[in-house]
Amino acid sequence: MKKLIIALFCGLVSLSAVAGGNIANGEQLAKKNNCAACHGADFSKPVDPAYPKLAGQHAEYLEHALKAYKRGDAANGRNNAIMGGQVKPLSNNDIADIAAYLHSLPSELVLKR
Ligand code: HEC
Repeated sequence: MKKLIIALFCGLVSLSAVAGGNIANGEQLAKKNNCAACHGADFSKPVDPAYPKLAGQHAEYLEHALKAYKRGDAANGRNNAIMGGQVKPLSNNDIADIAAYLHSLPSELVLKR
């Protein structure tokens, strides 16, 4: 029974991940907005060490971060002049699609313990 519940739960989680964003549309949006100009080739080779690697990052985290740049100075916002300007034209749906695309890319991110 426990295994069945876990299996059902995992099914739900993966379904919601799929529903979370349209990868193909996210790729188009990332191209259109030149995100790789700073975040680098394959979103893994940023042009400056201050620009974070994005490839393979958790989609929920990317979405949260991008929405925080949109909030800017408001509560729980991220006040960053560069990214604040980048996210302005993006809708919440655009953000979810971009997050899904970036998450789908092969990652060089590592966990150090
Ligand atoms: C002009 C350079 C530049 C461009 C273009 C740019 N970014 Fe950024 N991005 C940055 C910098 C710098 C930061 C770090 C800002 C900070 O310290 O909060 C950042 C941070 C981020 C973060 C937060 C990552 C984390 O680990 O917290 C995300 C997500 C992100 N950018 C996505 C995008 C997307 C999507 C686009 C295209 C719509 C984009 N960026 C375009 C420079 C850029």
